[in-house]
Amino acid sequence: MATCHKLSGLGGVGAGSGQNVAMPFADVADSAAGLRRTGYLTDDRIAQVVFLAERLGKPILAEGPAGVGKTSLAMAVAAATGQRLVRLQCYEGLDEAKALYEWNYHKQLLRIQTDEGKRWDELEGDIFTEDFLLTRPLLEAISSTEPVVLLIDEVDRVEIESEALLLEVLDSFQVTIPELGTVTATSRPFVVLTSNNTRELSEALKRRCLFLHIDYPDVQREREILLSRVDGLPERLATRIAEVVRSIRAVPLRKAPSVSESIDWARTLLALAVTEIDGAVTDDTLHVLLKYQSDIAKVRRHLDLGSAN
Ligand SMILES: Nc1ncnc2c1ncn2[C@@H]1O[C@H](COP(=O)(O)OP(=O)(O)OP(=O)(O)O)[C@@H](O)[C@H]1O
Ligand SMILES: [Mg+2]
Repeated sequence: MATCHKLSGLGGVGAGSGQNVAMPFADVADSAAGLRRTGYLTDDRIAQVVFLAERLGKPILAEGPAGVGKTSLAMAVAAATGQRLVRLQCYEGLDEAKALYEWNYHKQLLRIQTDEGKRWDELEGDIFTEDFLLTRPLLEAISSTEPVVLLIDEVDRVEIESEALLLEVLDSFQVTIPELGTVTATSRPFVVLTSNNTRELSEALKRRCLFLHIDYPDVQREREILLSRVDGLPERLATRIAEVVRSIRAVPLRKAPSVSESIDWARTLLALAVTEIDGAVTDDTLHVLLKYQSDIAKVRRHLDLGSAN
């Protein structure tokens, strides 16, 4: 979602060293603990990459199947460090005007109409100022006077050509607006890019990032995620849900159930006042976990659910 805010005071124009801010995480264990406090459960690898990204000042490229916690990792880092999250949602056709900035043509036009009679060279200096600039997420993150977490979500959706724009920003953390000057980040944002791997990203982009593959969690971590995300879920039920979901993921499916779906399933079972998971309950609620009829049929066969009824 490209939010549009007015650039406030252009605090970073022509200034700033692009340095990192004070380190909020002392070590890997501290990064795991900080994220856990926000309800985000890491494994050792995730905690390590978050710690290193901050220490080395490098963006994280989080890649993996849908619903495994890529986007929420950025949200958790923001919550854990108390920094604002600035989100650039990528899509096909994303351009500079939606990613960086654009001029507020409507407002400029009104100003021109109001100042009727003024010469163009007089007007030009009036309408190409901060007041007429709409900042989009990348510029918003760079021009922020406070450190922010910049989430560039689903980067694989933009065309390879648009990656060049991201590369430029990630390299220099500065943006040049011809009419105004160069805006340089006063504190380097903590950047998380996510990808669902729908296409291969450029080598150049990958090279600049710390790569993090997030896969489905193991039973223990999924159980903890469920307990952290679903209020009132009994521990025993959380364990059973994690085990059953794990066994379903072992079946070759068109779309394996993700963490989002196991959370949905847990909420469903609670809503239906289920305390024990048996074949009949699973059969009755499989559609919450699976999104294709062919997958449902396959899992019913695999778990031998036909005989449960
Ligand atoms: N490690 C985790 N700790 C706590 N909650 C998690 C974790 N992983 C996933 N979740 C929860 O699972 C849900 C899906 O996560 P999220 O939206 O971040 O996935 P995603 O990988 O970005 O998916 P998509 O590729 O579809 O965008 C969210 O409700 C999130 O809170
Ligand atoms: Mg996501």
